[in-house]
Amino acid sequence: MSKPAIILDCDPGHDDALAIIVAARHTDILGITTVSGNAPIESTTHNTLVMKDLLGLKVPVHQGAVRPIVAEPQYATYVHGESGLDGADLPAPTSTVDGTDAVGFIIDTVRANEGAWLVPTGPLTNIAMALRLAPDIAKRIAGISLMGGGTFGNRTTAAEFNIWVDPEAADIVYRYGGPLIMAGLHVTHQFRATQARIDKVKAMPGQLADVMGDLMQFFTNMYMSRHHGMDGGAVHDPLAVMVLTHPELFTRKNAHVVIELNGTHTRGMTLIDERDLREVKAGNCDVLMTVDAEAAFDVMSEAIAHFSR
Ligand code: RIB
Ligand code: CA
Repeated sequence: MSKPAIILDCDPGHDDALAIIVAARHTDILGITTVSGNAPIESTTHNTLVMKDLLGLKVPVHQGAVRPIVAEPQYATYVHGESGLDGADLPAPTSTVDGTDAVGFIIDTVRANEGAWLVPTGPLTNIAMALRLAPDIAKRIAGISLMGGGTFGNRTTAAEFNIWVDPEAADIVYRYGGPLIMAGLHVTHQFRATQARIDKVKAMPGQLADVMGDLMQFFTNMYMSRHHGMDGGAVHDPLAVMVLTHPELFTRKNAHVVIELNGTHTRGMTLIDERDLREVKAGNCDVLMTVDAEAAFDVMSEAIAHFSR
């Protein structure tokens, strides 16, 4: 099977960094675009360049939206640290950005590469703006595979962080009309960096394994300090990539999903209609339901080993 061509839109972020590694190993990355989310755009872009250099990638990196379309900027430094990628001794990047118009890059690249996937693992600001500026791309892409939403929240009771940061952008994406895959919290929480899994990565030779072992340790320590019953950090973002490269590791169901924009307590919620009624609208989204976590972690670990030297 040929590798899927993707544009990865991300906000590194510890789990975004792992998504970059899996994507570099198993996809044809046409480009990486950055968005404000886990940290301000300068940090998420810097962190993306760090990962590009650590992996020795030759892919273009384009900086994107500084802030959400409507909402005020919000960050997740309480999870990822002030830099957005705390917890490891990271080399300063030598690469520089190839541009600061991620939206234009997405549009041009989609038009030049029919059948590419858009894989957003942060707030959906860039993707939404590209769809609004160039509606034709909705029919040129193979689809959108995103990390976001879920049957429960994390930033609030109802809303997951990526959707919560820019609900208006998410609303545009969930209503774009093409193929959409959603890796929500109810599936990403099945995929955790337990201590045993982290120790396996730390035991690998090479710089990347050292760095990713330390980053996963920081991420898991942060998660376990904030949660009562989790045995490791939920490694969200790689699943949005792996569902394209290793679909056999997942179960999914098609459902109608809408984004709540106005609820006092529910703004940013992904409302998944699971009712068994003929009146329910046709599905707009493949909602991932389960993942074979052990096999998925083997895929991610192998990707780290592949680039660690
Ligand atoms: O809620 C988890 C998501 O928010 C992940 O993509 C993480 O990187 C943060 O962006
Ligand atoms: Ca992310």
